[in-house]
Amino acid sequence: MSNAVTVLGLGQMGHALAGAFLRAGHPTTVWNRTAAKADDLVAQGATLAGTPADTAGLVVICVSDHHAVRGILAAMGPLEGRVVVNLTSVTPTHVREFAADVTRRGGAYLDGGILAVPDAVGTAESMLAFSGPRALYDEHEATLATLGAGMHLGEDPGLLATHELATLMLMWSMLNGFLNGAAILGASGVSAAEAVPFARMMIDSVAGWLPGYADQIDQGTYSADHGTIDTQLVSMANVVEESESLGVNTDLSKLVKALAERAVAAGHGGSGYTALVEQFRKS
Ligand SMILES: NC(=O)c1ccc[n+]([C@@H]2O[C@H](COP(=O)([O-])OP(=O)(O)OC[C@H]3O[C@@H](n4cnc5c(N)ncnc54)[C@H](OP(=O)(O)O)[C@@H]3O)[C@@H](O)[C@H]2O)c1
Repeated sequence: MSNAVTVLGLGQMGHALAGAFLRAGHPTTVWNRTAAKADDLVAQGATLAGTPADTAGLVVICVSDHHAVRGILAAMGPLEGRVVVNLTSVTPTHVREFAADVTRRGGAYLDGGILAVPDAVGTAESMLAFSGPRALYDEHEATLATLGAGMHLGEDPGLLATHELATLMLMWSMLNGFLNGAAILGASGVSAAEAVPFARMMIDSVAGWLPGYADQIDQGTYSADHGTIDTQLVSMANVVEESESLGVNTDLSKLVKALAERAVAAGHGGSGYTALVEQFRKS
């Protein structure tokens, strides 16, 4: 017999989570601020809750932001014996607030993040990460695995949210680089599709550098084996100059160049690219 679950929040992601639980045979209760978004799930066998307090089993919250999570937790009423898994993207500070609130009210709290798009939830392409009490994760691991492969990062409830912020920065930086590159290529009459093989090659190369670069960052040694910041600065200036002549936005290219110039001013012109981490460490 599959365990009962409740999904609070049926936006794009919450709806996908509830659908995956239903397909796997979990008795699934659903609630959404706009109740109509539950209609098709109810037609598939879900139970509609009238309020966030009408939950059954493991409670999964997936809404737009921390304000919505806070409101839902307040509306859940007594939490004695209830287990709340928050899959909403929030900051580590919010997570610690929610964990303390739920625990103080007699419940148990696990924080999680979904490393997948809604269509992939419940398939082999879906991964989730969690932080909070290990014993709580172990207890509910099998149920949560319905949504995708899971991993537990650590006892600190805020750990997942910290990783999530770092990973999102990486995703946006990669995408911004691709989009900025597409704008440069487009202004030169080259389609974005033609850039894809080069972009994939570069992403694969960078992915291969990461373990060694992470060691350099952790040890504070910035090897110039892959070239110096001085050398890269010449290429950065080329990007800014050509973007200006093409009439393409230079916000990102100027920021990239300015960070490198600051690293050079700090004495790292002859260092490898990882020395830029010192610029990111400053507030
Ligand atoms: N979509 C993705 O690809 C994806 C991938 C990974 C992680 N996530 C994360 O999943 C979370 C949800 O994203 P989503 O794509 O599902 O967003 P979404 O489609 O915009 O849905 C937002 C949900 O939040 C609810 N909501 C907003 N304000 C509320 C409030 N004050 N009280 C109660 N409910 C409220 C909305 O209810 P109404 O329907 O009534 O407006 C809706 O159910 C986010 O943290 C997001 O970062 C999303």
